[in-house]
This record gives sequence, structure tokens and C-alpha cells, in this order.
Amino acid sequence: MNRVHIKTYGCQMNERDSEAVAAMLRARGYRIVGSESECDVLLLNTCSVREAAEQKAIGKAANIAHRKKKNPDFVLGILGCMAQNRGADLLDQLPDVDLIVGTQKFHQVPDFLDNLRAAREAGVPIGETIVDIGEEAGSQNTIKDHLAPEDCDGAPPQVNAFVSIQQGCNMDCAFCIVPKTRGDERSRPMDDIVAECRALAARGVKEVTLLGQIVTSYGRRDYTHTDGVSPFVQLIERVHEIDGIERIRFTSPHPRGFKEDLAAAYGRLPKLCEYVHLPMQSGSNRILKAMNRPYSRERYKEIVDSLRAVRPDMYFSTDIIVGFPGETDEEFEQTRELFEACNYDMAYIFKYSIRSGTPAAGMGDQIPDEVKEHRNQVLLDILRKNSERRNAALLGTVEEVLVEGPDKTGLRFTGRTRGNRVCIFDANPRLIGQLVPLKIDRASVSTLYGELVLGGVFDAA
Ligand code: SAH
Ligand code: F3S
Repeated sequence: MNRVHIKTYGCQMNERDSEAVAAMLRARGYRIVGSESECDVLLLNTCSVREAAEQKAIGKAANIAHRKKKNPDFVLGILGCMAQNRGADLLDQLPDVDLIVGTQKFHQVPDFLDNLRAAREAGVPIGETIVDIGEEAGSQNTIKDHLAPEDCDGAPPQVNAFVSIQQGCNMDCAFCIVPKTRGDERSRPMDDIVAECRALAARGVKEVTLLGQIVTSYGRRDYTHTDGVSPFVQLIERVHEIDGIERIRFTSPHPRGFKEDLAAAYGRLPKLCEYVHLPMQSGSNRILKAMNRPYSRERYKEIVDSLRAVRPDMYFSTDIIVGFPGETDEEFEQTRELFEACNYDMAYIFKYSIRSGTPAAGMGDQIPDEVKEHRNQVLLDILRKNSERRNAALLGTVEEVLVEGPDKTGLRFTGRTRGNRVCIFDANPRLIGQLVPLKIDRASVSTLYGELVLGGVFDAA
């Protein structure tokens, strides 16, 4: 019972949580394996943000439960948001699950597995499922471990890392289950985050992405503004000072907290990549209000314009929900208009999904699926055209690319530009972790292809 595979659904925070669980398990002597078919323990780290995400994980777990019939020692665990959201009720559908662990208890997984392992070795029949979805003070400080390069079975050294700076959210957007699954907004101490980034830099990480549900509120209860600079921007400044960290990203800010000090930071902090993910959700003021999103379309556009004023080459991405209850054709048209005006390079467009227990679930006038689908397609068409336009403009230019490792084929290499565009190119493995100049000579909708410009490594260190 030593080989663990973790399958992750959903967002970057889930990926980060899974990595931290994997690192904690490694430290306890478990082996983290890349293949589901060769594991003794399968942990599904789940997402609840839309119904489809929950159904996917439930389908997977039901499928895997058959494997337990053949091998009673096989362990199946459900972690994260769906575990938190549904708790022991999951057992009605999935009676064979051994572990149900909520979002504030990831750090307990090694103990739970040790207990299960000890019971099995002692020949004690496995009794009740372990269910732990309680709240835990300080749990935001437990997502801090990273897998070391030697833990990753010959994988190339990690050059970019996610760093959790905050857990939970208190915004209560009417559609969103996250405040329920992730709990109250809690920030980690700034010194801890900086120490973690320093340790990552010392092992060769060049790019960090600071993660939280609403990073613009980071530290608001624990730190004060100094000279008009918010705790979040103070944190970015401190990470910026770390030698070895070459690029800083973050996700996700909230338009409400996107103030002048953060826009100005893009003008003075060169490591801050010119790529902003700024969730808009809707371009209709009435719908924004119904969503409990405290900003207007005018204010949203003002933020985008202020960022483009500081960095004309800024890349933008966003989240949009189409078909929120009561969204009329005219209101969607306002979203379409603002979506077009912001000229996004990337967007995550979601069809509204009813999440039981959220205020929007009880609202009348739910929108039919085919209307949501149509609105989804309208925005996707705009996005595809934007992306093609942006990529065409990059043809012939030289972009700074951080080399991450071999591409999927293993024959070429992959990396990303500061604007978060994926690039594929030929390179020498010794360039992994370096910033290299790449001349872009071809593009598909989502990927750039190019050639290294010889003799011009930005970071030859
Ligand atoms: N604060 C987080 C939001 C997490 S949810 C962040 O910005 O990363 C991620 C996105 O899922 C939201 O921005 C929203 O666009 C979408 N979403 C949330 N609840 C949804 C629902 N009930 N139906 C459809 N999309 C939803
Ligand atoms: Fe969800 Fe809104 Fe928070 S989208 S995560 S409640 S900012």
C-alpha cells in the first residue's frame, strides 16, 4: 500500500493542494506514481464549482470502486471541494470510498493513510470510512510543501511553481459554491510566503504564481497599507526582491480590489508579467448586481484601460458566466460588447450551473441550455478571432520564453512567453529553466512555434 496516485480536477489551487499532499506523502515514505493503473492508493482531488465537475469525479470514483472488489486492499479517497460540499452523503452513491477529506484537512491525509495501512497490515477489517471535513484554524498555513526534483521520477527540474497565499473567500457571489467549500478568507503570513519563494528560487524555480480566490484582499486583516500600497502589492514587492525569481504572476484578483497601487506596480516591477486574469463574469450592471459582484461594467473597463495605459502590451484573460438566472438577450449583448471591447487573449467561459445552497440556485427564470450554449459560442468565436489576431501580430517578433521542459511528444521543448502563450521549439536540455529569445515563425490558435535566436540567452546564469 505504498504507491499513491493523485488525480486532480478543477483549478490551479487544486493542483497546488495536490502537490502539497504528494510532498507530505513522499516525506512519509509513500511513492507518488504517475499511473493510475499501478497505484495502491488513488486520491481524487475534486472540484465543485460546476455540477459537471462533480459528476465527472463521481463517475470516476464509481468506476474505480469495481477495482476494490478485486483487490480489497486498494484504497480510494475523495479529497477537496466535493468532499467538503457533500461530506458523508457521498457514501450514498459511493459506499466503497475509504477516505473523505475536506479542504481544511489536506495535511491530515498522511496520518489517515498511515492508519489505514496499519489496520490492513494488522489484518483488521476496514471499518467505517474516514470522513473529516471540519474547519481547522490555521489550515491556510499547511499548503507549503513542494515536491523536490528527486521526488519526481526523472522529470525535468521544476522551473515554475504555484504558491498558495490565501485560502477561502468571503465575497459570496450569488452563483458560487467556493465560500462553502473553501471556508472563510484566511491569509498566510507574508514572511512564510517570502521564505517559500526563496526556497523555491534556491532550487531553480524561476517563475512563481501567487494563488488565492481573491488575492487582491490578501492580508487585509493582518497588515496595513503603507504609503497607499496594499498588503498584496507589498507581498509582490518582497517576492520581486528575491534573486533567482524572474517572473511573478498571480490569480485571481477581484475587480473590486484592483486599485491604482496594483496597476502602478506593473510600471515599476519588471518581474511582474504583463498578463492579468481579471474575472468579469458579466457586462450587465443589473446582472452584476444580482450576482453580488460589487463593481460596474464602467469600472471594470476603467481597470482594463488603466492597465493598458501602464503596459500597452498587456495580455488579459477573464472568467464569464453566460445564462445567469434572468439574463436577457439585451443583457448578454452588453456582456458581448464589453468582452469585445476588452480584447481578451484568453477567457474561461462558463455556462451557469445551479449550485445547491447558493442564492442564485433559488432564483426564478433559469435560462434554457440551448440559450446558454448559443451565448457560449458567440463569446468563443470572438475569443478565437482575438487569439488569432494576437498570434498573427507575434509572427516575426522575438519573445522571451522560459523553457519548461520537453513537449508532449518528447521531441521538442515547451515554454511560455511573459504573456502566457505556450511555445514549441527545438532546444538543448541544458536550456531548461532559462529565459531564451525565441523568434516566432508559426502559430495555431493556442500555440506559437519558433526558433531560438542563437547567442542571445537573456539569463545565461
Ligand atoms: N475567485 C476564484 C473563483 C473560483 S470559481 C477565481 O477567480 O479564481 C472560478 C470561476 O468559475 C468563476 O470566476 C466563475 O466564472 C465560474 N463559476 C463559479 N460558479 C459557477 C457556477 N455556478 N456556474 C458557472 N460558472 C461558475
Ligand atoms: Fe467565488 Fe466570487 Fe469568491 S466567484 S471564489 S465567491 S470572489
